[in-house]
Amino acid sequence: MKKLVALTGAGISAESGIPTFRDAGGLWEGHKVEDVATPEGWHKNRELVLDFYNQRRKKALEVKPNHGHEVLVDLEKYFDVTIITQNVDDLHERAGSSKVIHLHGSLFESRSTLDESLVYPIKGWELKLGDKCEKGSQLRPNIVWFGEAVPMIEGAARYAADADIFVVIGTSMQVYPAAGLIDFVSSNVPKYLVDPNTTALHIHNLQIIKDKASTGMERLKELILK
Ligand code: OAD
Repeated sequence: MKKLVALTGAGISAESGIPTFRDAGGLWEGHKVEDVATPEGWHKNRELVLDFYNQRRKKALEVKPNHGHEVLVDLEKYFDVTIITQNVDDLHERAGSSKVIHLHGSLFESRSTLDESLVYPIKGWELKLGDKCEKGSQLRPNIVWFGEAVPMIEGAARYAADADIFVVIGTSMQVYPAAGLIDFVSSNVPKYLVDPNTTALHIHNLQIIKDKASTGMERLKELILK
């Protein structure tokens, strides 16, 4: 089976009702990125950061995967599909995709602030001040914040380098190292970009499907199964 690798961003969850980061009305609205998504923000006000992700988690539990997620599941009939997502929601898994790499962590996991190898599932929607790891330190969301290392990037880069087809869906490609993954893909490999607001990316062998994820992914499926 040919290997299809999909890099997804906030745009694939937009039609499920989760706002993207950088579109108007995006998620950072009302919050400065540095207050809620950096280690400095965490040290300044842990309660604010916990609450910010609690609200995101609550929202993620309320919504459902959309047709864009579903097409990626369907493509597993024809390809060996690996999804590399920047999203911290679990909509790919809930849609039924079997191989998902979460570059930026997961809303549904907490981790120790003392020992980063201690990761726990979060039951329900709330992580509170006073919730502690087995070594007695405060738990934080298991999310990669700005200024932190992205441990999953090495494995993701190997998948990108090995891809026979590479698809980018709903990401502004502004955040590194995720945006750099496309540079690992061989130049002869066909690449597709599904996004309604995309600006020209100067990449060899790239076909742009200027459409939202639900209908754009249908068009993509037709193109690659032709
Ligand atoms: P952005 O908000 O930067 O980009 C969202 C992209 O989705 C834009 O290119 C939109 O045009 C597109 N889009 C909007 N509606 C869409 C739809 N219905 N279908 C398809 N595409 C649509 O989000 P990301 O690129 O995912 O990091 O942001 C990357 C990272 O920045 C996030 O993972 C997060 C943030 O800071 C961390 O939290 C570490």
